[in-house]
Amino acid sequence: MQQQSLFETTHVGAIELKNRIVMAPMTRSRSAQPGNTPTALMAEYYQQRASAGLIITEATQISPQGQGYSWTPGIHSAEQIAGWRQVTDAVHQANGKILSQLWHVGRMSHESFHPDGKPVAPSALSPDAQVWVVNSHGVGEMVACPVPRELTHSDIQQVIADYRQAAINAMAAGFDGVEVHGGNGYLIDQFLRRTSNKRQDEYGGSLANRVRFAQEVLEAISDAIGAERTGIRLAPFITQRGMDDPQACEAILALAAWCETKGIAFIHLAEADWDDAPQVPYEFRETLRATFSGTIIVAGNYTREKAEKLLAAGVVDLVAFGRPFVANPDFPRRLKENLPMAGISNPATLFGGTEVGYTDYPFLATEV
Ligand SMILES: Cc1cc2nc3c(=O)[nH]c(=O)nc-3n(C[C@H](O)[C@H](O)[C@H](O)COP(=O)(O)O)c2cc1C
Repeated sequence: MQQQSLFETTHVGAIELKNRIVMAPMTRSRSAQPGNTPTALMAEYYQQRASAGLIITEATQISPQGQGYSWTPGIHSAEQIAGWRQVTDAVHQANGKILSQLWHVGRMSHESFHPDGKPVAPSALSPDAQVWVVNSHGVGEMVACPVPRELTHSDIQQVIADYRQAAINAMAAGFDGVEVHGGNGYLIDQFLRRTSNKRQDEYGGSLANRVRFAQEVLEAISDAIGAERTGIRLAPFITQRGMDDPQACEAILALAAWCETKGIAFIHLAEADWDDAPQVPYEFRETLRATFSGTIIVAGNYTREKAEKLLAAGVVDLVAFGRPFVANPDFPRRLKENLPMAGISNPATLFGGTEVGYTDYPFLATEV
């Protein structure tokens, strides 16, 4: 097999990339209030990081119902589309490519985001988890997720329609495509797993039924914007948030086989979410590669060495980095030239706030 490299050009579906380094999606909670609207500061932040071959935005709610955390941006209003246009223009001016990460949190939400006080989910089961919510004094805190309301059949059709419209909005905002957030215990993941999905209709029970919702979302989106601009993020080995289902891998491989038949552009594995970072068995990588011939992206505690090894073995095509991009806007250059990496100086600036800890991390000087 030909040796591949992080710094070679490639493509994902219809999108040409200048290297194989992806900036992983990272929530930074800096949208303008009220309205959850992307800002000029967000455009600057993403533009600074446009030396990545591909940027995937922070998770972005497809509807008011899809929100679970304070100050996350949406892509369901005209103001939000206009806000995102600033971001995509800034990234494209810097010769970058950018996808919108489409998000519905399902039960990972809080009363305060819902007129009836109830988040929605496949089944009325609490995730035993917390979300970040800004209180009436303007202070962000982690709060428990309540027991959600079970989605009706017609609610599910509405959510699928919301995903489709959000993808259309993303293209109107100038994105190169979309990534559906199907991991980390959010709505799509909640349908995939038996721990969170106890439904008795065609969206629950058997493996085929549990993957149906993800398939219908991807189908609706790819019909609207093209499969070659549509991908999905999945987290087969993550167990937190009440998601520990030993059959999760089977569901994900079944979905991957379906993605193959539909020409979905990519599958993105979230291998670590904070400390929930189990080892991915190599056998799983080989099975996924044998199942899916589109682009495979991986993320989670990657080093250059680990990335190059898996690229060379042909089991992955692109490698995403999250935390390194927070403090190193010029991360690809530092990686390539083996230059010093900065660390996150103050974790309190990760979620919410100003330019501090956001756009004020410096680039390295040209000569170092
Ligand atoms: C501050 C922060 C916010 C994150 N927000 C998201 C998100 O919005 N969507 C998502 O899919 N993953 C999110 N993640 C997970 C990252 O995309 C990535 O998978 C994780 O950080 C592991 O990669 P790393 O070890 O290179 O940081 C977030 C991670 C961090 C650190």
